[in-house]
Amino acid sequence: MKVFLIGFMGCGKSTKAKQLAHRLNCPVIDLDAEIVSKTGKTIAEYFAEFGEAGFRNYESEMLKTYPYPENCVIATGGGLPCFFNNMEWMNANGETVYLQMEPAQLVSRLHNRQKRPLIANMDDEQLLEFIKLKLLERDPFYTQARVVVNAFDLDAEKLEA
Ligand code: S3P
Repeated sequence: MKVFLIGFMGCGKSTKAKQLAHRLNCPVIDLDAEIVSKTGKTIAEYFAEFGEAGFRNYESEMLKTYPYPENCVIATGGGLPCFFNNMEWMNANGETVYLQMEPAQLVSRLHNRQKRPLIANMDDEQLLEFIKLKLLERDPFYTQARVVVNAFDLDAEKLEA
């Protein structure tokens, strides 16, 4: 079984993917980290060189061509489900879990903004507005996930690895 964790930046996809993989005793794959190791560029550098459109092409290609083991947990980039037919592809090729979180909760968790080109240099107020607007655009994709969980509660449970 392949489990794809999706959701907005800062909702905890990478951490929860590691914890879930540990529990299921299977490998974890972080698609953003794969992009960094394959290209030798940070996500910010990739955006700067090829633009957002270039990044969307590359991450979609990575999603669909990665040699996944039969059982694994996959952390995806926050925008990935919203481009091309990536959401349908993930639903057709595995289980999808949306880690949902309120905008204000996301703001309080997004400390390292510089490494995320879409929100680099935003203060809390700008980021809150940005997240509210982006979620209007992205929720129709995210909510196509098979399972929707309240990621803030999940975090509070302190699911131990
Ligand atoms: C993005 C989220 C990032 C990364 C890129 C774009 C987005 O991943 O893919 O900066 O569009 O929401 P994380 O959700 O892991 O931060």
